[in-house]
Amino acid sequence: MLSILKNTWYAAAYSHELGEGTLARTLIDQKAVLFRDSHGEAAMILNRCPHRFAPLSAGRIIDDTLECPYHGLRFNRDGECVLNPHSKTKAGLPAANIRAWPLLERYGIIWFWPGDPAKADPALLPVIDFLEQPDDYAVVRGLLHVKGHYELVVDNLLDLSHAAFIHPQFSGGNYTPEQLLAATTQRLERGDRWITNHRIRSGLGPSSAHVGLFGMDPKVVVETDTTMTWHPPAMLDFKLGSWEVGQPRESGAHIPQLHIITPETEFTSHYFFVNGRNRRRDEPEVDQALLDFFDMAFRQQDEPMIEMVQENMGAVSDINELNPILLATDTAPVSARRMLADLIARERAEEATASLNAPRAPAEMAH
Ligand code: FES
Ligand SMILES: [Fe+2]
Repeated sequence: MLSILKNTWYAAAYSHELGEGTLARTLIDQKAVLFRDSHGEAAMILNRCPHRFAPLSAGRIIDDTLECPYHGLRFNRDGECVLNPHSKTKAGLPAANIRAWPLLERYGIIWFWPGDPAKADPALLPVIDFLEQPDDYAVVRGLLHVKGHYELVVDNLLDLSHAAFIHPQFSGGNYTPEQLLAATTQRLERGDRWITNHRIRSGLGPSSAHVGLFGMDPKVVVETDTTMTWHPPAMLDFKLGSWEVGQPRESGAHIPQLHIITPETEFTSHYFFVNGRNRRRDEPEVDQALLDFFDMAFRQQDEPMIEMVQENMGAVSDINELNPILLATDTAPVSARRMLADLIARERAEEATASLNAPRAPAEMAH
């Protein structure tokens, strides 16, 4: 079963994916459809008409509503059936109301809240520094579909020791995994709702991207920051940058990134990545070169590994059920998994208490 934290923001789509038409996407085991109203505000409702279960994504957007393509019921952004063409008055049909999700559009991403709508507070979306500074960073975006449980993708990002083995291009290809690991120091910092894995590599050369795209001298000795901050359930704020040893950090080439994983189903995930850069910001060929660089790393190297891992785990989505051996580099992913499990357990306990305390309907009380 897919186990998730409900009262939190998840990425549904990039803003640019939602134009004038509808967008159908399965998110956390629910078929959803996104559309924009006449003010351009995004809405997300269940992509299944309650009449004969037609996909509303195949319908038309009319007057801020979505019309079912099969028999014409119309639904507004709150999922209310506001027009029934088969009744004399054309009035809405409350019995046909469907689920709608609270949305938030920020950082070029449409976020949805699968939990209690009354708790959907925009202030709970973590602040991502580089996306708050659009003048200082150019940004490119990508979206992958991974055949693996979402926490396997988080594990991958929180234990970057794998880079020495499956991303040799990050180090310019000039070092052995042993040299890379020996030059790297890590320190874990925990907050009440975040974990930061500080990771600095010192005394080696720059990555191939820093040399090829940002003109760093391959012979110069650099500090490389690969610090990752995890926000539950699956958002990673990644500081990636290199600067010459002895120079200030600001003098370097920085490629900060946001990675967000949204479960599609128990065994598949949507993987959104947003990459900034503080150098060569106005050059479209650098946009493409970075997309190619990350396509190589994430789609051709990480994604197949995560999929093979899931394949090897069979029909198990929680890796802890299979008693994995732990290494020193697992501290961050293990801590994140524990924190997420605690948050989910707390949320479930609160839900159970709330339903016990909820006033019962009069009919129920009569029995
Ligand atoms: S299936 Fe939607 S109105 Fe009939
Ligand atoms: Fe990776």
